[in-house]
Amino acid sequence: MKTKTNLKRIGILTAGGDCPGLNAVIRAVVKTAIYQYGLEVIGFIDGYAGIIKNECRPLSSADASGILHRGGTILGTSNRDDPFRYPVIENGKKVFKDVSDQSIQNLEANGIDVLVVIGGDGSLTIGSKLAEKGVRLVGIPKTIDNDLWGTDVTFGFDTAVTIATFAIDRLHTTAESHHRAMVVEVMGRYAGWIALESGLAGGGDVILIPEIPYDIDKVCQEIQNRYHRGKGFSIVIVAEGAMPKKGERVVQRVIEDSTDPLRLGGIGYKIGSEIEKKTELETRVVVLGHLLRGGSPSAFDRILATRLGYHGVELAAKGKFNRMVCVRGREIEHIGLEEVGGKQRLVDPNGHLVNTGRAIGVCFGD
Ligand code: F6P
Repeated sequence: MKTKTNLKRIGILTAGGDCPGLNAVIRAVVKTAIYQYGLEVIGFIDGYAGIIKNECRPLSSADASGILHRGGTILGTSNRDDPFRYPVIENGKKVFKDVSDQSIQNLEANGIDVLVVIGGDGSLTIGSKLAEKGVRLVGIPKTIDNDLWGTDVTFGFDTAVTIATFAIDRLHTTAESHHRAMVVEVMGRYAGWIALESGLAGGGDVILIPEIPYDIDKVCQEIQNRYHRGKGFSIVIVAEGAMPKKGERVVQRVIEDSTDPLRLGGIGYKIGSEIEKKTELETRVVVLGHLLRGGSPSAFDRILATRLGYHGVELAAKGKFNRMVCVRGREIEHIGLEEVGGKQRLVDPNGHLVNTGRAIGVCFGD
């Protein structure tokens, strides 16, 4: 027996940077929609590009089978295509156009009663704007950065922290053998969650996060102190968004079409060369980058993604639109989409995790 709902057909898309667990959400949404409610599911290709260009395909339970453990997204994604600011070439020049009306017509032409958007800050902000124009939408939070407002945790984060921790463990042994300083740069945008948690899990000696601007002399002092205590090596974990007390963030590139144009990265090399110069200790730098985003999700992320996907369909089926499912403690709840966009959930510099680190001797460079 199927549970009754007024819906017939739901659409689904994955938008923004990919993230381990996206396929697990797609699987949960498709299976819940079909098995529980007898709905049809249409998948839009490459994030919002799918609704802009009307590129979509029906998703059956067979399509959702065998994908739980797979990284990436079977639907494809994009962190560039925004229906409210879509680049087109006119008279040989690139101009940005609002194609949201056409996108909404495409949704209507496909008979979509509600659109499930799996995305982070930028993608859910777009979702909220579509909702204001009448689209019925449910948001599912994703990002490895864990910086999304309104949820205690996002799926993908646990996997990213786990991979970074494995990497730090491996770098530890080579750093120790060669008596070197090893700088490990991790992603995370403007939030230090990945650096902080992988740094604590991997036993990092110095952890530099955007929320605590650092002084390079303090960092070098810590490395030298360790050296004099007989610890000839040091592991420095740096968030890509970390910044010196006096200075700027390191921007790797600017992508004009993107919902979030700045791409951070490269701070690890700056810090590595400063450490080598000031301490005269041989130093190596490793940038983990997209390794943290690719591949299989952890067991935790598979379960979280499955719970969020199921609850997303439940919300839609009950007619609770324009909300994002979220995690509060151990429960799944929901929050208005309009509350989520444009804010960031950052590490509290005086919070429990940082204080724990300080108590066990971690240097935060301040
Ligand atoms: O938001 C996820 C994330 O991986 C960030 O940690 C990083 O700053 C950014 O995306 C990288 O984006 P791109 O894949 O466009 O290089």
